[in-house]
Amino acid sequence: MTQSIASTTTNAAADLIARSNRLGSDKKNTNYAGGNTSAKGTATDPVTGEEIELLWVKGSGGDLGTLTENGLSTLRLDRMRSLVNVYPGVEREDEMVAAFDYCLHGKGGAAPSIDTAMHGLVNANHVDHLHPDSGIAIATAANGRELTAKIFGDKVAWVDWRRPGFQLGLDIAAIKDANPQAVGCILGGHGITAWGETSEDSEANSLWIIDTAAAYIEEHGAAEPFGPIVAGFEALPAEQRNDRAAALAPTIRGLASTDKPMVGHFTDDERVLDFLSREKLSRLAALGTSCPDHFLRTKVKPMVLDLPATASVEEQLDRLNELHAEYRADYQAYYDAHKDENSPAMRGADPLIVLVPGVGMFSYGANKQTARVAGEFYLNAINVMRGAEALDAYTPISDAEKFRIEYWALEEAKLQRMPKPKSHAGRIALVTGAASGIGKAVAKRLAAEGACVVIADLDLAKAQAAAAELGDSDVAVGVAANVADAAAVQAAIDQAVLAFGGLDLVVNNAGLSLSKSLLETTEADWDLQHDVMAKGSFLISKAAAKVLIDQKMGGDIIYISSKNSVFAGPNNIAYSATKADQAHQVRLLAVELGEHGVRVNGINPDGVVRGSGIFAGGWGAKRAATYGVAEEDLGQFYANRTILKREVVPENIADAVYVLTGPELTRTTGLHIPVDSGVAAAFLR
Ligand SMILES: NC(=O)c1ccc[n+]([C@@H]2O[C@H](COP(=O)([O-])OP(=O)(O)OC[C@H]3O[C@@H](n4cnc5c(N)ncnc54)[C@H](O)[C@@H]3O)[C@@H](O)[C@H]2O)c1
Ligand SMILES: [Zn+2]
Repeated sequence: MTQSIASTTTNAAADLIARSNRLGSDKKNTNYAGGNTSAKGTATDPVTGEEIELLWVKGSGGDLGTLTENGLSTLRLDRMRSLVNVYPGVEREDEMVAAFDYCLHGKGGAAPSIDTAMHGLVNANHVDHLHPDSGIAIATAANGRELTAKIFGDKVAWVDWRRPGFQLGLDIAAIKDANPQAVGCILGGHGITAWGETSEDSEANSLWIIDTAAAYIEEHGAAEPFGPIVAGFEALPAEQRNDRAAALAPTIRGLASTDKPMVGHFTDDERVLDFLSREKLSRLAALGTSCPDHFLRTKVKPMVLDLPATASVEEQLDRLNELHAEYRADYQAYYDAHKDENSPAMRGADPLIVLVPGVGMFSYGANKQTARVAGEFYLNAINVMRGAEALDAYTPISDAEKFRIEYWALEEAKLQRMPKPKSHAGRIALVTGAASGIGKAVAKRLAAEGACVVIADLDLAKAQAAAAELGDSDVAVGVAANVADAAAVQAAIDQAVLAFGGLDLVVNNAGLSLSKSLLETTEADWDLQHDVMAKGSFLISKAAAKVLIDQKMGGDIIYISSKNSVFAGPNNIAYSATKADQAHQVRLLAVELGEHGVRVNGINPDGVVRGSGIFAGGWGAKRAATYGVAEEDLGQFYANRTILKREVVPENIADAVYVLTGPELTRTTGLHIPVDSGVAAAFLR
């Protein structure tokens, strides 16, 4: 088979992708989305028909573990290397990034990253640049250069810290030329770069450096690199830890969201808990992280609660408030000390990592994935500090250099290019009864608008299945909760808070309908209807309001009540009475929670047949038989009784939830919106 004229995919690129996927899928080798890899090879120039040398290099963004051809930049090697002749010097090295665009071969693929120079200039067919914890441990040891020589002999060279860029590429290329026996280098404060003539060699050299460093730390490192355990700072027992984390999370999220709303992630990984229990915690945490990837996501340093786990929740909250004020002042001072006339504006002074001894680590980001990855990166940093302290003294790059990365014009440009967030991005929603019908449609809509969603329903498997339909656990999680049971409600709210950091938006939707006349309605019928709807939404609102008040970020509570909350018809005493109770809860809570910025609104649906479990359980068939229509026509039958004569579907209710909780109706509370295609007898007045 003949290859198409413009195809540049070669074995070299295919090998590169396979190697990158292997390296990137093991967290030992590099952090998420960290590092980059490259291959050089030849291909036929579709214009001249001649053989040309190309450089395939992982482009900007994306993760090595999942790299595909689209994530590669393909450059003409001769042109890329010719840039050396026009390089204006380190002061203007950032200009070289734009120049890479003039070296591209063909179109498509990813934009060339800042590390392109290193890959192109190093004289080896294959190059891997990685951020392994073991390698960064050596890179951040006070005597890193000496340690490198001791551990690797002359097979691995040392390169002093320098901000990534064209000059770092030149430095590494020169060091390789000067050390022909070397298979790679340790980049001070940052990571490693390895190379090889074949893809296999490069991979083997990378792994050799990573594993040799890890083995050396293991064998020669101090037994307790973080010092002895401090009494009172040990991990609480698992259940207490969970309760304490849930009790603290809303306040901490509120503090971390002072400048802009954040989603949270919580982990009580044993490596985190161990670090938090040790004598060196405060000194090391204050030094901050070192690898640029790490601190761009974690901020220069975390906020650390300096109280033992034995302190009360109240004492911890008071202290967290004080520490947060200090953290912000400290960050402002860091910004002021290092900024110059070209620096971008300060991006917010709140911590992204909050460490609570005995309990665990809270991490924050504009969305769940970012929050989770920030936590992963701080765990990388803990591993790095542990290794460096085991051999020597952990010595990250200076604050001045951190600032040069954090407020780098190229970094700022990347942030400016990010797409505008969706309307509900950063908001955390809990929808009850969301495994079916209206609740499911509401959950789906909120997730589509960027919210993190907790689906609460009676059956765990069904709740989880509904959550899985919306996306992975960064998007939605399912929890089991009978809303009529106060303990189950509190447990569900706690799970939501631990899954996403807090709560902003609650939809009281769980319900069921028993249509019976007064004389047929039993006491048990009455209790069931009122327990699930009136009491259930009271319990959910109460537990959620505590979170909303602690967070100090406002919020929304929505009640899915019913046309029947105002409309009087026969055979509906228990259902309609409890719907009227829910409707009045809306008004009562709107008045009571307004001072906290919490808006409470309701929706009155009617005649939602399609997708509704209420109608599916035989009740729809009975209603259809009563009216003498086929069951599948029941929705349209109800529609024909309305003013607009249009069928009401679950998505219409979801639209109303979106509008009530979205960016437009910010001055509305205590309102009910009918979504019933127009029923004059249920008009609100
Ligand atoms: N379908 C309609 O025409 C209509 C009209 C007006 C109001 N509503 C209201 O809308 C809400 C949703 O109704 P639907 O039509 O989607 O019904 P549905 O049966 O499809 O969904 C209700 C969900 O609530 C869950 N649920 C029931 N009891 C629960 C409990 N104790 N704890 C937690 N979850 C529980 C169920 O498991 C189910 O998944 C209900 O409050 C209902 O009264 C529906
Ligand atoms: Zn790097």
